[in-house]
Amino acid sequence: MKVTIVLGTRPQIIKSAPVYHAFAAAGFDCDIVNTGQHYDYEMNREFFKELDLPDPSSDLNVGGGTPNEQVSAIIRGLGSQFADGKPVLALVPGDTNSALAGGIACSKAGVPLAHLESGCRSNDFRMAEEVNRRVLDHISQALLCPTPGCVRNVREEKVLASSVTNVGDTMYDSLLKFIPSLEMMDAASKYGLDDGGYAFMTLHRAETVDDRATLRSVIEGVGALGIPVAFGVHPRTRERLKSFGVSPGPNFTLLEPLPYVETLSLAGRSKFVITDSGGLQKEAYWLGRPVLLTRDDTEWGEIVEAGAAFLVGTEGRRIAQGYGKLNKVRPAAFRAAKRIFGSGNASANVVKAVSKFLARAGKAPS
Ligand code: UD1
Repeated sequence: MKVTIVLGTRPQIIKSAPVYHAFAAAGFDCDIVNTGQHYDYEMNREFFKELDLPDPSSDLNVGGGTPNEQVSAIIRGLGSQFADGKPVLALVPGDTNSALAGGIACSKAGVPLAHLESGCRSNDFRMAEEVNRRVLDHISQALLCPTPGCVRNVREEKVLASSVTNVGDTMYDSLLKFIPSLEMMDAASKYGLDDGGYAFMTLHRAETVDDRATLRSVIEGVGALGIPVAFGVHPRTRERLKSFGVSPGPNFTLLEPLPYVETLSLAGRSKFVITDSGGLQKEAYWLGRPVLLTRDDTEWGEIVEAGAAFLVGTEGRRIAQGYGKLNKVRPAAFRAAKRIFGSGNASANVVKAVSKFLARAGKAPS
């Protein structure tokens, strides 16, 4: 019973790791295809090691081109692989171009498709990811939703998948596994920061970093808060800061892309997190840190409704207003985590949902 996971970026590795282990423990022959969308191979390899994953069974090496080039190369690469033998099911995590291309390749080759992290919506069509996740939900047969709200979204859109299941969030499973390491790690002091006395920031979305005025506005707005900022700089952002001539001020500590556990440690020991990332806003919430989202919408509206995150957009004035609200965030805002994202057993639920789907499709014993 071969199941293939198609991934290509760091958040997809984090989402997939506990799912891989759960499939393997249940006796599936699970393999991983790495598209190579993020072509910093050494860094992705470190992530594989950190999350205890075996080397991918194949690497499509598509990094470095335009999104169209990447998507078409992944479709061609997977198409050739499927011509040599198909898995009983492929699983694509999240909403990246790798997930979209993996999904289309499966659809063309007649490989049943499971979409992990199905149903989340930001309703912001400027985001490539919003288009990707909508397309994926409509071409997948098994939808694996991380929250009850995501199930509602696919029901409201009348998506015709054979199976829709609220499994919980597998990123939460990954984070819980690392809690003991986090207790021992102090990434803040490693980077010369005072525990609880700095903001941890990441920015990488095209809508935030590809426009000079927007990027400058966020950097200046955050700089004006006057507190130390640990800024984990994504390769795309580093390139834009340089080409736009935008220089973060002296209160920023610029950090290279970080290992997973250091990222969690820096978020967990911060005063608050500032980000445009989908994954980091959840991780901050699970670690009990409030978040300023440099966006006008989010796919994780539950965290905003719980009062633990604020949508502040990209203007300095709104970033300052959001900062002013952080003192009022109460511990109760973080208590809804389990109710929203599950109890850390999402990966086991994924295996159950996939097994049930395969049995119904006549591809596995029930
Ligand atoms: C992509 C995903 C986004 C995800 C993010 C995580 C899409 C449309 N977007 O955005 O959903 O949250 O990855 O990082 O698929 N690069 C590296 N090392 C990295 C990351 C990126 O070298 O760790 C390079 C890439 O190879 C590329 C550039 O940085 O040259 C920008 O990456 P790109 O593929 O455009 O997508 P991201 O902005 O990373």
